[in-house]
Amino acid sequence: MSEPQPTGFSILNPFNHQPTPIPPVWLMRQAGRYLPEYRELRAKAGSFLDLCYSPEFATEVTLQPIRRFGFDAAILFSDILVVPHALGQHLEFVEGEGPRLDPLKSLDDIKALTPDKVEEKFRHVYEAVSSIRSALPEETALIGFCGAPWTVATYMVGGRGSVDQAVTRLFAYQNPQAFKQLIDLLVTTSVDYLLGQVKAGVNLLQIFDSWAGNLSDDEFLKWSIDPTRRIVREIKSQHPNLPIIGFPRGSGPGYETYLKATNVDGISCDTSLPLSYMRDHLSPLGTVQGNLDPLLLVTGGEALDRRVDEILETMSGKPFIFNLGHGIVPQTPPEHVARLVDRIRAAG
Ligand code: CP3
Repeated sequence: MSEPQPTGFSILNPFNHQPTPIPPVWLMRQAGRYLPEYRELRAKAGSFLDLCYSPEFATEVTLQPIRRFGFDAAILFSDILVVPHALGQHLEFVEGEGPRLDPLKSLDDIKALTPDKVEEKFRHVYEAVSSIRSALPEETALIGFCGAPWTVATYMVGGRGSVDQAVTRLFAYQNPQAFKQLIDLLVTTSVDYLLGQVKAGVNLLQIFDSWAGNLSDDEFLKWSIDPTRRIVREIKSQHPNLPIIGFPRGSGPGYETYLKATNVDGISCDTSLPLSYMRDHLSPLGTVQGNLDPLLLVTGGEALDRRVDEILETMSGKPFIFNLGHGIVPQTPPEHVARLVDRIRAAG
Protein backbone atom coordinates (compact mmCIF):
# COMPACT_ATOMS: atom_id res chain seq x y z
CA MET A 1 0.00 0.00 0.00
CA SER A 2 1.05 3.65 -0.53
CA GLU A 3 2.54 6.00 2.03
CA PRO A 4 0.09 8.55 3.48
CA GLN A 5 -0.53 11.62 1.32
CA PRO A 6 -1.16 15.08 2.73
CA THR A 7 -4.52 15.61 1.03
CA GLY A 8 -8.16 15.76 1.90
CA PHE A 9 -9.49 13.47 -0.84
CA SER A 10 -11.77 10.95 0.88
CA ILE A 11 -11.04 8.33 -1.77
CA LEU A 12 -7.40 8.24 -0.64
CA ASN A 13 -8.28 7.29 2.95
CA PRO A 14 -8.53 3.54 2.37
CA PHE A 15 -5.11 3.59 0.66
CA ASN A 16 -3.67 5.49 3.63
CA HIS A 17 -5.10 3.06 6.22
CA GLN A 18 -7.50 5.73 7.51
CA PRO A 19 -10.81 4.42 8.89
CA THR A 20 -13.77 5.05 6.54
CA PRO A 21 -17.06 4.52 8.37
CA ILE A 22 -18.68 5.79 5.16
CA PRO A 23 -16.77 4.32 2.24
CA PRO A 24 -15.87 6.62 -0.64
CA VAL A 25 -17.98 6.03 -3.76
CA TRP A 26 -17.70 6.55 -7.51
CA LEU A 27 -19.12 4.48 -10.37
CA MET A 28 -17.52 3.16 -13.51
CA ARG A 29 -19.09 4.94 -16.52
CA GLN A 30 -20.65 7.49 -14.17
CA ALA A 31 -20.65 9.94 -17.09
CA GLY A 32 -22.63 8.64 -20.03
CA ARG A 33 -25.84 7.95 -21.84
CA TYR A 34 -28.04 7.30 -18.77
CA LEU A 35 -27.81 11.07 -18.08
CA PRO A 36 -30.07 13.32 -20.23
CA GLU A 37 -27.53 16.17 -19.94
CA TYR A 38 -24.85 13.85 -21.42
CA ARG A 39 -27.09 12.88 -24.35
CA GLU A 40 -27.76 16.54 -25.03
CA LEU A 41 -24.09 17.49 -25.11
CA ARG A 42 -23.16 14.38 -27.08
CA ALA A 43 -25.64 15.42 -29.80
CA LYS A 44 -23.99 18.86 -29.97
CA ALA A 45 -20.41 17.56 -30.02
CA GLY A 46 -20.89 15.39 -33.10
CA SER A 47 -18.85 12.22 -32.78
CA PHE A 48 -17.86 10.49 -29.56
CA LEU A 49 -14.18 11.12 -30.36
CA ASP A 50 -14.90 14.85 -30.77
CA LEU A 51 -16.28 14.74 -27.25
CA CYS A 52 -13.12 13.02 -25.94
CA TYR A 53 -10.68 15.41 -27.67
CA SER A 54 -12.49 18.64 -26.82
CA PRO A 55 -11.21 19.82 -23.42
CA GLU A 56 -14.32 21.95 -23.01
CA PHE A 57 -16.81 19.13 -23.69
CA ALA A 58 -14.78 16.52 -21.80
CA THR A 59 -14.70 18.83 -18.76
CA GLU A 60 -18.43 19.42 -18.84
CA VAL A 61 -19.26 15.72 -19.24
CA THR A 62 -16.87 14.72 -16.42
CA LEU A 63 -18.51 17.21 -14.08
CA GLN A 64 -22.13 16.28 -14.85
CA PRO A 65 -22.34 13.26 -12.50
CA ILE A 66 -20.36 15.12 -9.80
CA ARG A 67 -22.91 17.96 -9.77
CA ARG A 68 -25.83 15.55 -9.61
CA PHE A 69 -24.55 12.98 -7.13
CA GLY A 70 -21.48 14.43 -5.37
CA PHE A 71 -19.32 11.34 -5.91
CA ASP A 72 -15.99 11.23 -4.03
CA ALA A 73 -14.10 11.02 -7.32
CA ALA A 74 -14.55 12.06 -10.92
CA ILE A 75 -13.10 9.97 -13.74
CA LEU A 76 -11.57 11.71 -16.73
CA PHE A 77 -14.01 11.53 -19.63
CA SER A 78 -12.18 9.75 -22.41
CA ASP A 79 -11.90 6.18 -23.69
CA ILE A 80 -9.34 3.39 -23.60
CA LEU A 81 -9.38 3.37 -27.43
CA VAL A 82 -7.82 6.83 -27.63
CA VAL A 83 -4.48 4.95 -27.41
CA PRO A 84 -4.91 2.92 -30.65
CA HIS A 85 -6.34 6.03 -32.30
CA ALA A 86 -3.30 8.08 -31.26
CA LEU A 87 -1.10 5.26 -32.62
CA GLY A 88 -2.66 5.90 -36.03
CA GLN A 89 -5.26 3.13 -36.18
CA HIS A 90 -8.55 4.05 -37.82
CA LEU A 91 -11.32 4.15 -35.17
CA GLU A 92 -15.03 4.88 -35.32
CA PHE A 93 -17.80 4.50 -32.78
CA VAL A 94 -20.82 3.18 -34.65
CA GLU A 95 -24.17 4.20 -33.15
CA GLY A 96 -25.76 1.28 -31.33
CA GLU A 97 -22.89 -1.08 -32.17
CA GLY A 98 -19.72 0.15 -30.49
CA PRO A 99 -16.15 0.70 -31.64
CA ARG A 100 -14.83 -0.37 -35.05
CA LEU A 101 -11.10 -0.37 -35.87
CA ASP A 102 -9.19 -1.52 -38.97
CA PRO A 103 -7.85 -4.77 -37.48
CA LEU A 104 -4.09 -5.34 -37.25
CA LYS A 105 -3.41 -8.55 -39.19
CA SER A 106 0.36 -8.89 -39.29
CA LEU A 107 3.69 -7.74 -37.88
CA ASP A 108 3.83 -5.21 -40.74
CA ASP A 109 0.56 -3.66 -39.54
CA ILE A 110 2.01 -3.41 -36.03
CA LYS A 111 5.20 -1.83 -37.38
CA ALA A 112 3.12 0.73 -39.30
CA LEU A 113 1.73 2.17 -36.03
CA THR A 114 3.04 5.65 -35.18
CA PRO A 115 4.29 5.93 -31.57
CA ASP A 116 6.15 9.13 -32.48
CA LYS A 117 2.82 10.86 -33.21
CA VAL A 118 0.77 9.96 -30.12
CA GLU A 119 1.42 13.26 -28.34
CA GLU A 120 -0.59 15.12 -31.01
CA LYS A 121 -3.72 13.38 -29.74
CA PHE A 122 -2.74 12.92 -26.08
CA ARG A 123 -2.18 16.63 -25.56
CA HIS A 124 -5.93 17.24 -25.98
CA VAL A 125 -6.55 14.75 -23.18
CA TYR A 126 -3.92 16.40 -20.94
CA GLU A 127 -5.57 19.78 -21.58
CA ALA A 128 -8.89 18.25 -20.57
CA VAL A 129 -7.29 16.92 -17.36
CA SER A 130 -5.99 20.37 -16.32
CA SER A 131 -9.28 21.98 -17.16
CA ILE A 132 -11.25 19.32 -15.20
CA ARG A 133 -8.91 19.52 -12.20
CA SER A 134 -9.37 23.27 -11.92
CA ALA A 135 -13.15 23.05 -12.34
CA LEU A 136 -13.70 20.23 -9.81
CA PRO A 137 -14.57 20.89 -6.17
CA GLU A 138 -11.39 20.80 -4.09
CA GLU A 139 -12.49 17.69 -2.19
CA THR A 140 -13.24 15.64 -5.32
CA ALA A 141 -10.36 13.50 -6.56
CA LEU A 142 -9.75 13.03 -10.29
CA ILE A 143 -9.08 9.53 -11.62
CA GLY A 144 -6.99 9.09 -14.76
CA PHE A 145 -6.98 5.80 -16.65
CA CYS A 146 -5.90 3.64 -19.54
CA GLY A 147 -6.87 0.24 -20.83
CA ALA A 148 -4.48 -2.58 -19.97
CA PRO A 149 -2.39 -3.67 -22.98
CA TRP A 150 -4.26 -6.99 -23.33
CA THR A 151 -7.72 -5.39 -23.42
CA VAL A 152 -6.63 -2.61 -25.80
CA ALA A 153 -4.94 -5.23 -28.03
CA THR A 154 -8.19 -7.24 -28.26
CA TYR A 155 -9.78 -4.24 -30.00
CA MET A 156 -6.72 -3.51 -32.14
CA VAL A 157 -6.42 -7.08 -33.44
CA GLY A 158 -10.11 -8.06 -33.33
CA GLY A 159 -11.28 -4.72 -34.77
CA ARG A 160 -14.26 -4.65 -32.41
CA GLY A 161 -15.56 -5.92 -29.08
CA SER A 162 -16.35 -9.64 -28.87
CA VAL A 163 -17.52 -12.04 -26.20
CA ASP A 164 -14.52 -14.37 -26.33
CA GLN A 165 -11.73 -12.33 -28.01
CA ALA A 166 -11.09 -15.42 -30.18
CA VAL A 167 -9.44 -13.47 -33.02
CA THR A 168 -6.87 -11.94 -30.68
CA ARG A 169 -6.24 -15.07 -28.60
CA LEU A 170 -5.62 -16.99 -31.80
CA PHE A 171 -3.29 -14.28 -33.13
CA ALA A 172 -1.33 -14.38 -29.85
CA TYR A 173 -0.96 -18.19 -30.02
CA GLN A 174 -0.02 -18.19 -33.70
CA ASN A 175 2.22 -15.10 -33.76
CA PRO A 176 3.61 -14.78 -30.21
CA GLN A 177 6.55 -12.59 -31.24
CA ALA A 178 4.49 -10.13 -33.24
CA PHE A 179 1.90 -10.04 -30.45
CA LYS A 180 4.63 -9.37 -27.89
CA GLN A 181 5.79 -6.38 -29.96
CA LEU A 182 2.28 -4.99 -29.88
CA ILE A 183 1.98 -5.53 -26.11
CA ASP A 184 5.40 -3.93 -25.52
CA LEU A 185 4.40 -0.92 -27.61
CA LEU A 186 1.20 -0.61 -25.57
CA VAL A 187 3.19 -0.80 -22.32
CA THR A 188 5.48 2.11 -23.26
CA THR A 189 2.66 4.16 -24.79
CA SER A 190 0.41 3.60 -21.76
CA VAL A 191 3.22 4.60 -19.36
CA ASP A 192 3.75 7.89 -21.26
CA TYR A 193 0.00 8.45 -21.42
CA LEU A 194 -0.54 7.88 -17.68
CA LEU A 195 2.50 9.98 -16.73
CA GLY A 196 1.11 12.78 -18.92
CA GLN A 197 -2.24 12.54 -17.13
CA VAL A 198 -0.53 12.66 -13.72
CA LYS A 199 1.52 15.69 -14.75
CA ALA A 200 -1.68 17.40 -15.92
CA GLY A 201 -3.37 16.82 -12.55
CA VAL A 202 -5.00 13.41 -11.97
CA ASN A 203 -4.85 12.17 -8.36
CA LEU A 204 -5.03 8.41 -8.85
CA LEU A 205 -5.14 5.92 -11.71
CA GLN A 206 -7.17 2.93 -12.82
CA ILE A 207 -6.04 0.34 -15.38
CA PHE A 208 -8.99 -1.38 -17.08
CA ASP A 209 -8.37 -4.99 -18.12
CA SER A 210 -11.99 -5.68 -19.00
CA TRP A 211 -11.21 -8.82 -21.04
CA ALA A 212 -8.67 -10.45 -18.69
CA GLY A 213 -11.20 -13.17 -17.89
CA ASN A 214 -10.89 -15.16 -21.11
CA LEU A 215 -7.15 -15.83 -20.89
CA SER A 216 -5.91 -19.26 -19.82
CA ASP A 217 -3.58 -19.15 -16.83
CA ASP A 218 -0.21 -18.92 -18.65
CA GLU A 219 -1.64 -16.34 -21.03
CA PHE A 220 -3.09 -14.40 -18.10
CA LEU A 221 0.40 -14.14 -16.59
CA LYS A 222 2.01 -13.25 -19.90
CA TRP A 223 -0.49 -10.84 -21.45
CA SER A 224 -2.38 -9.36 -18.47
CA ILE A 225 -0.24 -9.51 -15.32
CA ASP A 226 3.24 -8.96 -16.73
CA PRO A 227 2.47 -5.87 -18.90
CA THR A 228 0.43 -4.35 -16.05
CA ARG A 229 3.28 -5.02 -13.60
CA ARG A 230 5.67 -3.16 -15.93
CA ILE A 231 3.32 -0.18 -16.26
CA VAL A 232 2.86 -0.01 -12.47
CA ARG A 233 6.65 -0.25 -11.91
CA GLU A 234 7.31 2.68 -14.26
CA ILE A 235 4.60 4.91 -12.77
CA LYS A 236 5.70 4.04 -9.21
CA SER A 237 9.33 4.86 -10.02
CA GLN A 238 8.24 8.46 -10.55
CA HIS A 239 5.18 8.67 -8.29
CA PRO A 240 5.60 6.15 -5.48
CA ASN A 241 2.61 7.50 -3.52
CA LEU A 242 0.09 7.72 -6.31
CA PRO A 243 -2.55 4.98 -5.88
CA ILE A 244 -3.15 2.69 -8.84
CA ILE A 245 -6.25 0.50 -9.08
CA GLY A 246 -6.28 -2.57 -11.34
CA PHE A 247 -9.41 -4.15 -12.85
CA PRO A 248 -8.71 -7.67 -14.18
CA ARG A 249 -12.40 -8.29 -14.87
CA GLY A 250 -13.55 -11.89 -14.88
CA SER A 251 -10.28 -13.41 -13.73
CA GLY A 252 -11.80 -15.21 -10.71
CA PRO A 253 -9.13 -16.78 -8.48
CA GLY A 254 -6.56 -14.95 -10.66
CA TYR A 255 -7.53 -11.75 -8.81
CA GLU A 256 -5.28 -12.66 -5.90
CA THR A 257 -2.28 -13.47 -8.12
CA TYR A 258 -2.85 -10.25 -10.05
CA LEU A 259 -3.00 -8.12 -6.91
CA LYS A 260 0.20 -9.65 -5.53
CA ALA A 261 2.18 -9.71 -8.78
CA THR A 262 1.33 -6.35 -10.34
CA ASN A 263 1.85 -4.20 -7.21
CA VAL A 264 -1.33 -2.24 -7.76
CA ASP A 265 -2.60 -0.56 -4.57
CA GLY A 266 -6.25 -1.29 -5.19
CA ILE A 267 -8.32 -3.90 -6.98
CA SER A 268 -11.65 -3.34 -8.70
CA CYS A 269 -13.82 -6.43 -8.25
CA ASP A 270 -16.29 -7.61 -10.86
CA THR A 271 -19.81 -8.68 -10.00
CA SER A 272 -19.01 -12.40 -9.92
CA LEU A 273 -16.56 -12.24 -6.98
CA PRO A 274 -18.02 -13.41 -3.65
CA LEU A 275 -17.99 -10.70 -0.96
CA SER A 276 -16.35 -13.10 1.49
CA TYR A 277 -13.50 -13.67 -1.00
CA MET A 278 -13.03 -9.90 -1.39
CA ARG A 279 -12.96 -9.45 2.37
CA ASP A 280 -10.82 -12.45 3.34
CA HIS A 281 -8.45 -12.86 0.39
CA LEU A 282 -8.15 -9.47 -1.30
CA SER A 283 -8.54 -6.82 1.41
CA PRO A 284 -5.46 -8.02 3.36
CA LEU A 285 -3.46 -7.26 0.18
CA GLY A 286 -4.84 -3.87 -0.83
CA THR A 287 -7.83 -1.58 -1.16
CA VAL A 288 -10.88 -3.37 -2.51
CA GLN A 289 -13.33 -1.66 -4.86
CA GLY A 290 -16.66 -2.97 -6.08
CA ASN A 291 -18.84 -4.78 -6.85
CA LEU A 292 -22.56 -4.03 -7.13
CA ASP A 293 -24.21 -5.57 -10.20
CA PRO A 294 -24.97 -2.68 -12.62
CA LEU A 295 -28.31 -4.39 -13.37
CA LEU A 296 -29.40 -3.98 -9.75
CA LEU A 297 -28.94 -0.27 -10.31
CA VAL A 298 -31.42 -0.56 -13.17
CA THR A 299 -33.78 -2.57 -10.94
CA GLY A 300 -33.67 -0.20 -7.95
CA GLY A 301 -36.02 -0.54 -4.96
CA GLU A 302 -35.54 -3.04 -2.17
CA ALA A 303 -33.46 -5.46 -4.21
CA LEU A 304 -30.90 -2.68 -4.66
CA ASP A 305 -31.05 -1.62 -1.01
CA ARG A 306 -30.60 -5.18 0.26
CA ARG A 307 -27.48 -5.82 -1.80
CA VAL A 308 -25.98 -2.41 -0.99
CA ASP A 309 -26.41 -3.19 2.72
CA GLU A 310 -24.83 -6.60 2.29
CA ILE A 311 -21.79 -5.11 0.56
CA LEU A 312 -21.43 -2.38 3.20
CA GLU A 313 -21.74 -4.85 6.08
CA THR A 314 -19.27 -7.35 4.64
CA MET A 315 -16.64 -4.73 3.79
CA SER A 316 -17.14 -2.65 6.94
CA GLY A 317 -13.83 -1.81 8.63
CA LYS A 318 -11.79 -2.86 5.57
CA PRO A 319 -10.01 -0.55 3.11
CA PHE A 320 -12.93 -0.26 0.69
CA ILE A 321 -14.28 1.92 -2.14
CA PHE A 322 -17.90 1.42 -3.18
CA ASN A 323 -18.34 0.91 -6.92
CA LEU A 324 -20.09 -1.29 -9.46
CA GLY A 325 -18.72 -4.59 -10.76
CA HIS A 326 -18.70 -3.09 -14.29
CA GLY A 327 -19.93 0.12 -15.96
CA ILE A 328 -23.36 1.74 -15.57
CA VAL A 329 -25.68 0.66 -18.39
CA PRO A 330 -27.55 3.30 -20.43
CA GLN A 331 -31.04 2.26 -19.22
CA THR A 332 -30.17 3.08 -15.57
CA PRO A 333 -32.63 5.57 -14.04
CA PRO A 334 -30.58 8.46 -12.55
CA GLU A 335 -32.90 8.40 -9.47
CA HIS A 336 -31.56 4.94 -8.61
CA VAL A 337 -28.03 6.31 -8.60
CA ALA A 338 -29.14 9.06 -6.19
CA ARG A 339 -30.81 6.41 -4.01
CA LEU A 340 -27.60 4.37 -3.96
CA VAL A 341 -25.42 7.31 -2.92
CA ASP A 342 -27.91 8.34 -0.20
CA ARG A 343 -27.96 4.83 1.21
CA ILE A 344 -24.17 4.55 1.33
CA ARG A 345 -23.82 7.94 3.02
CA ALA A 346 -26.59 7.17 5.54
CA ALA A 347 -24.85 3.96 6.54
CA GLY A 348 -22.10 5.69 8.51
O1 CP3 B 1 -17.41 7.70 -16.88
C1 CP3 B 1 -16.42 6.98 -17.15
O2 CP3 B 1 -16.26 5.82 -16.70
C2 CP3 B 1 -15.26 7.59 -17.94
C3 CP3 B 1 -15.19 7.37 -19.32
C4 CP3 B 1 -14.98 5.99 -19.93
C5 CP3 B 1 -15.61 5.62 -21.14
N1 CP3 B 1 -15.09 4.42 -21.53
C6 CP3 B 1 -16.60 6.44 -21.85
C7 CP3 B 1 -17.40 5.84 -22.93
C8 CP3 B 1 -14.13 4.95 -19.56
C9 CP3 B 1 -13.26 4.81 -18.33
C10 CP3 B 1 -14.20 3.96 -20.59
C11 CP3 B 1 -13.41 2.73 -20.58
C12 CP3 B 1 -13.63 1.72 -21.62
N2 CP3 B 1 -13.92 1.92 -22.95
C13 CP3 B 1 -13.45 0.33 -21.42
C14 CP3 B 1 -13.01 -0.33 -20.14
C15 CP3 B 1 -14.11 -0.44 -19.15
C16 CP3 B 1 -15.26 -1.34 -19.57
O3 CP3 B 1 -16.37 -0.82 -19.73
O4 CP3 B 1 -15.04 -2.56 -19.70
C17 CP3 B 1 -13.71 -0.31 -22.65
C18 CP3 B 1 -13.66 -1.81 -22.92
C19 CP3 B 1 -14.00 0.70 -23.61
C20 CP3 B 1 -14.27 0.53 -25.06
C21 CP3 B 1 -15.58 1.07 -25.46
N3 CP3 B 1 -15.90 2.41 -25.49
C22 CP3 B 1 -16.71 0.34 -25.88
C23 CP3 B 1 -16.80 -1.17 -25.98
C24 CP3 B 1 -17.71 1.28 -26.17
C25 CP3 B 1 -19.07 0.99 -26.76
C26 CP3 B 1 -20.01 0.48 -25.77
C27 CP3 B 1 -20.98 1.56 -25.37
O5 CP3 B 1 -21.26 1.66 -24.17
O6 CP3 B 1 -21.43 2.26 -26.28
C28 CP3 B 1 -17.22 2.57 -25.88
C29 CP3 B 1 -17.92 3.86 -26.02
C30 CP3 B 1 -18.02 4.71 -24.79
N4 CP3 B 1 -16.99 4.96 -23.91
C31 CP3 B 1 -19.16 5.46 -24.37
C32 CP3 B 1 -18.79 6.17 -23.21
C33 CP3 B 1 -19.62 7.13 -22.42
C34 CP3 B 1 -20.50 5.54 -25.10
C35 CP3 B 1 -20.30 6.41 -26.30
C36 CP3 B 1 -21.50 7.19 -26.71
O7 CP3 B 1 -21.86 8.19 -26.07
O8 CP3 B 1 -22.08 6.81 -27.74
